[in-house]
Amino acid sequence: MKGIILAGGSGSRMYPISQVYSKQLTLIYDKPLIYYPLSVLMLGGIKEILIISNEETIPYYHKLFKDGSHLGLSIEYVVQAAPNGIAEAFILGDKFIGSDSVTLILGDNIFYGNLDFFYQGIEHNSGATVFGYRVNDPERYGVVEFDKNGKALSIEEKPQNPKSKFAVPGLYIYNNEVVKISKNLKPSPRGELEITDVNNTYLNKGELRVEKIGRGVAWLDTGTPEALLQASNFFGTIEDRQGLKVACIEEIAYYMNFISKEQFEKVIHQMPKCQYKNYLENILTGVE
Ligand code: G1P
Repeated sequence: MKGIILAGGSGSRMYPISQVYSKQLTLIYDKPLIYYPLSVLMLGGIKEILIISNEETIPYYHKLFKDGSHLGLSIEYVVQAAPNGIAEAFILGDKFIGSDSVTLILGDNIFYGNLDFFYQGIEHNSGATVFGYRVNDPERYGVVEFDKNGKALSIEEKPQNPKSKFAVPGLYIYNNEVVKISKNLKPSPRGELEITDVNNTYLNKGELRVEKIGRGVAWLDTGTPEALLQASNFFGTIEDRQGLKVACIEEIAYYMNFISKEQFEKVIHQMPKCQYKNYLENILTGVE
């Protein structure tokens, strides 16, 4: 299973900082936003990862993650020249995906809590697996319509009159067919290759699973400055209370056995003196 993080977009809602870099580098409490989706892929056991972003921001990601080997990962980078839509990720990622299946996560999507829904999705996927999460404002998202038995009937992108309260979060699992399907898509009226069109192609073939995510999981939106602040407060509260970090990729790499104790030690050693380093030193010595 390969993993793609799509972390581009025009980011115009994040002006003025969007003049310099894309919003996925913004701090959510104590670490860049992109750490959160990256940690989800890592927890899913995915080690080969492609980061797609605009030309301006790729060098910053490279500075942050390099080739990923210090985390036991292999990280590659590809430029998305213009915000042509989420499904373009599979065209740009064609070579990287090869003959594998692939999980795509949007670089501004945060999941917190019990991720069993995701682990199960990876384990049981045969065609495509997407998720349904109850939100208050479904019209801002792709929305699933279910029948009485909970079977998905349709997915509509940003409908004016949503047929349910269940939005499709930016976490998608596909078999290798997704590359061909994406290449055959036509741009939507907003000029983008829509992920919802990919999902509907699978749905029409009877190969789409839509799994509802339970209420114990937080799926946080980071589309606006208010939402970014809310997410920072949310994770600040949890980390402060527990003394444990969320989405700490070095800790996860160690915990998942992607790196040895010696490698973990080396990663910590290279950090400047800071609270983040202190935290990891405590993990290393088992003081928790
Ligand atoms: C995109 C997708 C939408 C999905 C959402 C999740 O929306 O098009 O189907 O529900 O991500 O974050 P966009 O980011 O383009 O508004």
